[in-house]
Amino acid sequence: MNSILPTNELCYGGDWNPEQWPAETVREDIELMREAGVNLVTLGVFSWAKLEPRPGHYNFAWLREIMDQCAAAGIYVDLATGTASPPVWMARQYPESLPVDEAGVRLSFGSRQQYCPSNPAYKERSVALAGALAREFADHPALVMWHINNEYGCHVHGCYCTACEGEFQAWLREKYGSIEALNHAWNTSFWSQTYNDFTDVYLPRKMPAQHNSSQVLDHARFADSQLRGLCIAEVQKVREVDPSIPVTTNFMGEFPFTNGREWAKHLDVVADDSYPDPALAGSAHEVAFTSALMRGYRGGQPFLLMEQTPGAVQWRPENSPKRPGQLALWSLSRVAHGADGVLHFQWRQSPGGAEMMHSAMVAHAGKNAQTWAEVVQLGQYLHRLTPVVGQRVQARACIVADWESMRARAAVVGPDSLPPAMHGARAWHRTLWEMNIVADVVGIDDDLAGYDLVIVPELFIDYPHFSARLQAEAERGAQVLVAAPTGVVDEFGRAILGGYLGSLSNLLGVRVTQHAVASPNAQRWNIPNLDEVDPRVDRITRAVQVPAKQGFHNLEVRSEELKRALDQIGTPRPNPRGGERAEYVMATSEASDFTDPMWLNDEVEVMAQFGYESDLGGWPAITRRRIAKGSAWYVATDLDATGRAALARVLGAFARLDMSGMTLPDGVERVTRGPVTFYMNHSDKAVQLSGVTGFDLISQADATGHAVLAPRSAMAILSR
Ligand code: GLA
Ligand code: ZN
Repeated sequence: MNSILPTNELCYGGDWNPEQWPAETVREDIELMREAGVNLVTLGVFSWAKLEPRPGHYNFAWLREIMDQCAAAGIYVDLATGTASPPVWMARQYPESLPVDEAGVRLSFGSRQQYCPSNPAYKERSVALAGALAREFADHPALVMWHINNEYGCHVHGCYCTACEGEFQAWLREKYGSIEALNHAWNTSFWSQTYNDFTDVYLPRKMPAQHNSSQVLDHARFADSQLRGLCIAEVQKVREVDPSIPVTTNFMGEFPFTNGREWAKHLDVVADDSYPDPALAGSAHEVAFTSALMRGYRGGQPFLLMEQTPGAVQWRPENSPKRPGQLALWSLSRVAHGADGVLHFQWRQSPGGAEMMHSAMVAHAGKNAQTWAEVVQLGQYLHRLTPVVGQRVQARACIVADWESMRARAAVVGPDSLPPAMHGARAWHRTLWEMNIVADVVGIDDDLAGYDLVIVPELFIDYPHFSARLQAEAERGAQVLVAAPTGVVDEFGRAILGGYLGSLSNLLGVRVTQHAVASPNAQRWNIPNLDEVDPRVDRITRAVQVPAKQGFHNLEVRSEELKRALDQIGTPRPNPRGGERAEYVMATSEASDFTDPMWLNDEVEVMAQFGYESDLGGWPAITRRRIAKGSAWYVATDLDATGRAALARVLGAFARLDMSGMTLPDGVERVTRGPVTFYMNHSDKAVQLSGVTGFDLISQADATGHAVLAPRSAMAILSR
């Protein structure tokens, strides 16, 4: 897969909804697209009502006219199959095509994504529409890619109707074969849940108390596979007509309800929709992290940023616009991290409807809006970056992120109940990113041979086959770091018995015997004033200390390497618990999730241990076991940013990673992709760089050693 466009350029453009506009606006749009350097538009995402106004009656003439205009203007088309929002006739004629929520409420027509994935009418009509569009347009000169549906599952993660219940039962029968196997996997002898037959099993609807977590986990997998089935059916249909046209659908980062890595196997191009909040400093990292996630889906293959917004979104409670320069800066950052194109939602801001206040490349004020100049400028920049098209980002560090683990952790009731997200993967990726170390985000089935540092930050499910592979990586010389919570349940969501970490225990040389969650927001179980203390009168309560309520544990560092790393980081941050502190301490995050006392075998070196003022005092917190040429490290707690940074410096030295990027000025990110090295200044200040030589593709000028980067701007240096 080389380039999406026959011109071999980076893609630039957005979702275009000409069906909302009169012909003269469409003509103006084409002119403006040329002015902005747009070379790819996504058409028809929400056009089903216009493409098939009555069941079986297709109206494609208007679309052909627009595609012809695109072709004439040199603009390529990513044509949507239009199946994301069925028309009103579907709802009226097939009311059971409307999805049902967990409480049994059937959702109404009048928004979007109102379909039940098991509904025969929806399945049949959506695939038929995809097929009809493929037959009509496969030969069209503007067409370069199929865009299947849109953001599967974004609003309706699962449908709870009786048809879906039947499909769930069939899926379970296929998976387990016998009801006894299901009863065992779900541990249904608990709370008298034993099933006699697959037809007994319910969907995990609203229930009196907590759900069976294995049932929830299997349901999440089922709901995902149902949506994936819809996507695959459309993919097959358009490939029947012409298998050479690449196929994509747009993901939403680490969206927990669809396992993007699985989906990507069925597609040709990985595409992502991403809306980092300009009001958060951490959004610069969000861009890098989600990009690494996307390029990791297909072994480093470049991806497409299918949607971002040129300014503000409209769906947050308060919606900050992008800051001056940020549109280009974040777009270039995507490209640096592996995107072969940057598209937007949307081309022209809607005149009405739910997304009227969502920004667009062409705002309500047209070219008068501030964004327009930035949109034109971004087009110019992207056209100058042709040398990176098809190039891969090189990384010697990777983070292993596992969807099933994320889901399993969310499904299990306790020890904490955080919303599903790749907490650990994000945290460790951020640590490396702050050091300008490029890290890939990979899955448990990916090849790890090229990595000198492998971080496994939260593999909640124990996978014996993966543990064996990690062992081999450590033996050949990699530094393998595993962090809690890992190895807590098996693939069915049943607890690992005999000590967590399961099959990783041998590699790490440690065993986890218990969890200890720190609870900064200790719940009072609805009893007011339970924890209020008047020290003058509460003679007993005033004497009770509750370390878990502090929300963190201090670690005493024993390793000389870690001490040196902490010295380099500089002034120790104040002991959050106040009072005396040891010379070298690391604090775990205040939102510490799990802290794991361990049992050691004697080859294991304790790098840091929990401080004695904590209930975990003396238990190892960071360990290292040397194995052949490499090492296996275990971190038994959720380290805070300082702790991760110190440890990453030590790991980086062992893995011989290039850490020179740490000395770049504050705010500057450096990434190399193919022949181009990007320098991105995320800060609000101009920065001076030295030792930068080559041709800057952005400014089209030579860099001769000394360079100045304006606030929120970037350079892309082509090496000679
Ligand atoms: C999603 C959808 C778009 C639009 C944007 C708004 O990404 O795919 O249709 O609703 O959100 O941010
Ligand atoms: Zn349903």
